[in-house]
Amino acid sequence: MSNDRYINANRELWNEWTKVHVHSDFYNVDEFKKGKITLKDIELAELGDVKNKSLLHLQCHFGLDTLSWARLGAEVTGVDFSEEAIEYAKRLSQELDIPARFICSNIYDTIELITDKFDIVFTSYGVLCWLPDLVEWAEIISHFLRCGGIFYIVEFHPVNNIFDNEKDTEGLVAKYSYFHSTDPVKWESDGTYADKTAVISNPSFEWTHSMSDIINSLISAGLTIEFVHEFPYCYYDHYPFMEKDDKGWWRLKNIEAEVPLTFSLRARKVQPDH
Ligand SMILES: C[S@@+](CC[C@H](N)C(=O)[O-])C[C@H]1O[C@@H](n2cnc3c(N)ncnc32)[C@H](O)[C@@H]1O
Repeated sequence: MSNDRYINANRELWNEWTKVHVHSDFYNVDEFKKGKITLKDIELAELGDVKNKSLLHLQCHFGLDTLSWARLGAEVTGVDFSEEAIEYAKRLSQELDIPARFICSNIYDTIELITDKFDIVFTSYGVLCWLPDLVEWAEIISHFLRCGGIFYIVEFHPVNNIFDNEKDTEGLVAKYSYFHSTDPVKWESDGTYADKTAVISNPSFEWTHSMSDIINSLISAGLTIEFVHEFPYCYYDHYPFMEKDDKGWWRLKNIEAEVPLTFSLRARKVQPDH
């Protein structure tokens, strides 16, 4: 199967998941409508003031984080390949009167659709596993940054991919390869991370990328890495043996060893395009 066919299959899945997510407690759209910012403390602290900055949000899902950046004063553009997600994001933007531009596109086709350059390119939590090629991804990010602009990602740590997360697993058992393969792994969906009881018919096709793949792709695209941070907690309960802390982060339960579950990275484009 070509990467295009995997990407199309994943789009079907994301359209199906989105219909569940917009009604889920996990995303809690009602709270968002009342004015809540859905961004987490990590990205709020590390990306800093976005007021009057142009921000491109890659893989924006149905737009809650994108619109949150807009609430904080950024001029936002969100891109996602799910028609359902982008339709919903546009509706929310209109209904709540939050200015935003949403574009439905495969990330690998965005250069043909968007002519602007941005102060910030942002992407977060659950994005890299859907991408077959990080070298091209990093080139796209660099293309969209103006000179001096910032790329920021906060994402599940690639170490997460190694361990078994089946329902009956009780501890950290290494089961999967850490390193990238051009062939994706096919997963039959058992609900979604936002609603484990949802009945889902489409499979997913996912790729792993090591930390060195991520960092080196950005360096090769000419970006200067400013920092990489690692955190022993996660955005959702990726393993059955996790508990939520009082800040809403999921941590490993009854396991003494701390492992990195989330990472963040900020990079800057210091060289102008030639
Ligand atoms: C886990 S979500 C991002 C989550 C986001 N941080 C949130 O919680 O709202 C991943 C998103 O990537 C999108 N996606 C996956 N592959 C894509 C591709 N090739 N091009 C554009 N969007 C893609 C999906 O539609 C989905 O909305």
